[in-house]
Amino acid sequence: MAVKKILLYPDPLLLRTSARIDTFDEDLISLAEDLVDTMYDADGVGLAAPQIGINKRIFVMDCSREDEDKDFKIVINPEIEHESEELGSYKEGCLSIPGITEEILRPKVIKVVYQDMNGVLQRNIYDELWSTCFQHELDHLNGKLFIDHLRPMKKILVKKKIKKSSKKEKKG
Ligand code: NI
Repeated sequence: MAVKKILLYPDPLLLRTSARIDTFDEDLISLAEDLVDTMYDADGVGLAAPQIGINKRIFVMDCSREDEDKDFKIVINPEIEHESEELGSYKEGCLSIPGITEEILRPKVIKVVYQDMNGVLQRNIYDELWSTCFQHELDHLNGKLFIDHLRPMKKILVKKKIKKSSKKEKKG
């Protein structure tokens, strides 16, 4: 168990498509533990393996409210089987793009399939923040970030903002 360093955009490892997981062993358990530890340490609601430099199809998420018990999910080889036509909007942020939040539209309800730590298939329906988070983290496994959902002009503006803020961070 360890808290890992979170890679920042535009690190090239964040822009790659991650590989399917076929081996459900001790190494996978320790990777999942690192993801959970790093997510809670950073106060995030989700974290995908590429964000700690591992290009494998696994992410963790915990969208429970502060007044609820911790309820993290470990999601391996995720796929979306069905998405609602109705869209939902959330102000999204990302631990790999600190300081930036943007309103992003995504399908509101999704039906998903993934594998758990034992390789057993799990099916679930997610709504609200859980749905947004699942889609955001799945994007990470495909080398995609939430800013890729912005309109082109808006994306250019946000990228400029990211450059500016990373310069400031280096100085400070
Ligand atoms: Ni993210």
